[in-house]
Amino acid sequence: MLKIGIVGFGFMGRMHYHCWKALVDAQVTAVCDANPNIVEDTQKAQAGNIGGADTEIDFSGVDIYSDFDKMLSQGNLDAVSITLPTFLHAETSAQALAAGVHVLCEKPMALNVADCDAMIAAAQKSDKVLQIGHCIRFWPEYAKTKELIDSGEFGPVIAASFERLGSAPAWAWDNWFMDEQRSGGMILDLHIHDTDYVEHLFGMPAAVSSFAAKHPGGGLCHIATQYIYDDSRVVTAQGGWGMAPSFGFEMSFNIVLEKATIVYDCTRDPAFRVCPAEGEAFTPQVAPGDGYSREIAHFAELIQGKDVPAITTLEQSRDSIKIIEAEKESVRTGQKANLIV
Ligand SMILES: NC(=O)c1ccc[n+]([C@@H]2O[C@H](COP(=O)([O-])OP(=O)(O)OC[C@H]3O[C@@H](n4cnc5c(N)ncnc54)[C@H](O)[C@@H]3O)[C@@H](O)[C@H]2O)c1
Repeated sequence: MLKIGIVGFGFMGRMHYHCWKALVDAQVTAVCDANPNIVEDTQKAQAGNIGGADTEIDFSGVDIYSDFDKMLSQGNLDAVSITLPTFLHAETSAQALAAGVHVLCEKPMALNVADCDAMIAAAQKSDKVLQIGHCIRFWPEYAKTKELIDSGEFGPVIAASFERLGSAPAWAWDNWFMDEQRSGGMILDLHIHDTDYVEHLFGMPAAVSSFAAKHPGGGLCHIATQYIYDDSRVVTAQGGWGMAPSFGFEMSFNIVLEKATIVYDCTRDPAFRVCPAEGEAFTPQVAPGDGYSREIAHFAELIQGKDVPAITTLEQSRDSIKIIEAEKESVRTGQKANLIV
């Protein structure tokens, strides 16, 4: 039985708790949060964006800590989920790896590429696994789409557009998402999901060209990026948290291949369709669960030494930060930013 600790018990901490709980060979035995009232406050917590907010947590058999060092030294843990605000990812991951514990750290990997490199070095120094929670690579429809593209059945991709829209996160501890120094802002926090998926599908773009809008009195709230490859394919993504709260949350994509169009929109029914050049549109069978539960099950298999495909590597997680940095540079300069020179 894997003994699991979770550090940072906000929206994503609770999400990880439920995913771990669903596995037969793992048990959450420790939770660490800076909030000394975390047990009581969890019952009245708010929803996040995707996946709802099941706040019913059974804390029996779970040791509660407010000091991460103490949890590492006393918890006798196999692995930790790091579901802390982004500015704490690099330091906390290195601390856990040095203590001999496997780490599943939420996305984005860190605030910048230098911190990602330090995390990669810490993982290499330990003999432990570090995985970054890029859940979209594991999201059933997104995973199936990669499989369909890679199979070549419908020919090459001609164009692809991705969208991820919602209102600014309102659930967070100390409103940390709104502080660019701690979250990296909307581009690093939200839009990175699509940037990372674009990288997953098509590899590193040669360059990016981005435009972004500022919320009155706030930071950047909406971005549109073109990922430039060395052929004529058009790949774009839009992301924003400037939508009115009553809008809710929407993630979607349209992918045009030579012999089919693949569409997904989490707000539609059916959400997922393959529209072949000939014949009727159909919804392919996808894996059960969601991206969170599948990524955590994958990590659990990995740390138990099972043979699993490399769906996300640390270098790819670092490269998505590199692309985001280029997108920010392009917004700042009004010019295209090169990634491959
Ligand atoms: N994969 C996804 O779809 C997804 C969705 C939302 C958030 N995230 C990521 O998950 C991470 C956490 O986001 P969240 O929405 O859960 O934030 P949150 O504000 O809801 O939760 C953060 C928790 O960390 C605690 N905390 C803060 N500083 C601490 C410290 N030094 N030690 C211990 N606990 C501390 C806070 O008290 C709070 O309970 C972020 O990196 C975010 O980008 C990922």
